[in-house]
Amino acid sequence: MTDQELIEQLRAQLHRHNYNYYVLNAPEISDKEFDDMMHRLQELEAQHPEYHDDNSPTMRVGSDLSSNFVQVPHRYPMLSLGNTYSEAEVTDFYNRVKRALDGEEFEICCELKFDGTSISLTYEDGRLVRAVTRGDGVRGDDVTTNVKTIRSIPLILHGDYPPQFEIRGEILMPWESFERLNQEREAREEPLFANPRNAAAGTLKSQNSSVVAARKLDAYLYYLLGDQLPADGHYENLQAAARWGFKVSEHIRKVRTLQEVFDFINYWNTGRKQLPVATDGIVLKVNNLRQQQELGYTAKSPRWAIAYKFQAERALTRLNKVSYQVGRTGAITPVANLDPVLLSGTIVRRASLHNADIIAGLDLHIGDMVYVEKGGEIIPKITGVDLSARRIIKKKKVRFIARCPECGSP
Ligand code: IVH
Repeated sequence: MTDQELIEQLRAQLHRHNYNYYVLNAPEISDKEFDDMMHRLQELEAQHPEYHDDNSPTMRVGSDLSSNFVQVPHRYPMLSLGNTYSEAEVTDFYNRVKRALDGEEFEICCELKFDGTSISLTYEDGRLVRAVTRGDGVRGDDVTTNVKTIRSIPLILHGDYPPQFEIRGEILMPWESFERLNQEREAREEPLFANPRNAAAGTLKSQNSSVVAARKLDAYLYYLLGDQLPADGHYENLQAAARWGFKVSEHIRKVRTLQEVFDFINYWNTGRKQLPVATDGIVLKVNNLRQQQELGYTAKSPRWAIAYKFQAERALTRLNKVSYQVGRTGAITPVANLDPVLLSGTIVRRASLHNADIIAGLDLHIGDMVYVEKGGEIIPKITGVDLSARRIIKKKKVRFIARCPECGSP
């Protein structure tokens, strides 16, 4: 076998094993065998620059070369969704669709709303050619080099994909990676990421793709765009995309009645806590593409879809004291000391107050009954004060300290 043939064989095998491991969760070889093949391929590619391939599995490893992001226009604008927190507005959405479709039957595709950072991927002839962030919806940053390190995003497709299309989805940092990353940052006294969404977005903008590779991002794809899509239903298109190698959530359901929509919402309101990634709601989409077209768009978002956001869990407890932590770099963080309270399965005793503005904005007084929320965050935060519980007797207003508690400097 020539070196060129060997390179091609290793690439094909590594693409397949990567897909088995990261998309199907069903590896056929050991990690060691995988790493050995990857190293062998890296060696051969170093010896043979003439066989370079932008979509080789070795692109997954990333590089230290600094990448600047070029702004590129979106072929189709990247819209957001109308948001609601109320079941009544979900009912309104359903009835609006029903009325606009003039009694015609319709299906609703129910999906999880992934809480990460959105991405648009362009594929040509089965190869990933571009990955662009949302940006302002019209133009975004080209982050292709970084995105290639995300193992669950296919670089080469298989099956009967159209020659040209875009697919959109969410880049996520799984809870496990997020917690490990923050532990590492804490040990180095670096500022922590507030939630996996910020961590994913920050990582994606890293100038160094080997940093991205090390942070273990994941991606779910949820929207296909193009002139030659395989089916006339959104759900059916996503199932086709899954066959081409994309990671599509298994928790998508097509339903017809409002009751089924609420069953889906109610199930995932608690079910989402078992998921490995952050979700902040569910998305409802009219399934049929012709009906989607008929319903059309407002200036900002489609009329054929809506996002229902889960209410963040919160608890009420007493603020006993505010203490100040001084980091190695001299940064001061105010910390609220609370009566212990159970929130989303853990006992909360402390909450970050971030900075002086937040303290002033909340008008906090020692002894106040305060609301703590965890939402997508791992570090609980104080989101409000129960003023009805504040007694007339004078309480001490919390003010950010004027001097460093360790060195006394202003
Ligand atoms: S569909 C035109 N589906 O939520 C519709 N979006 O404001 C395109 N998101 O920008 C979006 N999970 O970043 C869709 N299953 C899902 C989603 C989802 C998360 C994000 C996405 C979007 C935002 C809505």
